[in-house]
Amino acid sequence: MFNKLISNHFKKPHGLIGKMVNNFQNKQNKAIYLKTIKYLDIKDEDKILDIGCGNGYTLRLIANEYPHTILMGIDYSSSIIKEAIKSTTKANLNNISYEISDVLAFNKNNYFDKIYCINTIYFWQDLDEYIKKISTLLKKQGILYVTYMNKSTLDQYSFTKYNYLHRDLNEIDLVLRNNGFSVNIKKLFKTKGFVLIATKK
Ligand SMILES: C[S@@+](CC[C@H](N)C(=O)[O-])C[C@H]1O[C@@H](n2cnc3c(N)ncnc32)[C@H](O)[C@@H]1O
Repeated sequence: MFNKLISNHFKKPHGLIGKMVNNFQNKQNKAIYLKTIKYLDIKDEDKILDIGCGNGYTLRLIANEYPHTILMGIDYSSSIIKEAIKSTTKANLNNISYEISDVLAFNKNNYFDKIYCINTIYFWQDLDEYIKKISTLLKKQGILYVTYMNKSTLDQYSFTKYNYLHRDLNEIDLVLRNNGFSVNIKKLFKTKGFVLIATKK
């Protein structure tokens, strides 16, 4: 019961519990956010999208360090986007914008230099459809960063029995390659997870 509740809020946070679950995630996963940011290799003026940005914590880490970037976060949870906007306004950061949207319905074609999604692909049934969509959002030579926990790690937790698709690295790699990306795989802390760095050819 508890595991299902938590899992539902990981999938789509809402209300006070969603806010608390997201804050908890931020504490647990800060090292993962920082590692992903390192791989992003950010340059001034980069246009960067965070898909499934939650409360915008990672975007704020980037904005603080790279004020000359153009940052955008999307999430289909309206209540978590409200939190993201509140915290971003409070932090006085003006290079982040947010939109409430499912990535499949989001239209900004050939716009982004870099797109990342952290702990979000688990909830995407038809991965091929999502990767095709994301490819349209990227410029040519744009880069997608998929940060996720691998199957053996996900298999160890109880809350991941609900909502989560436990995918192998090879499966994700193949979908990316089939959609015209060249893929470079980096480990996230020993073998717990990976960042797939996929460049649109
Ligand atoms: C487990 S949370 C991770 C949040 C954040 N990326 C982090 O690592 O702290 C997954 C987030 O992705 C969002 N999400 C999942 N599928 C989505 C989709 N198709 N379009 C937009 N947002 C999505 C959820 O609402 C949720 O906020």
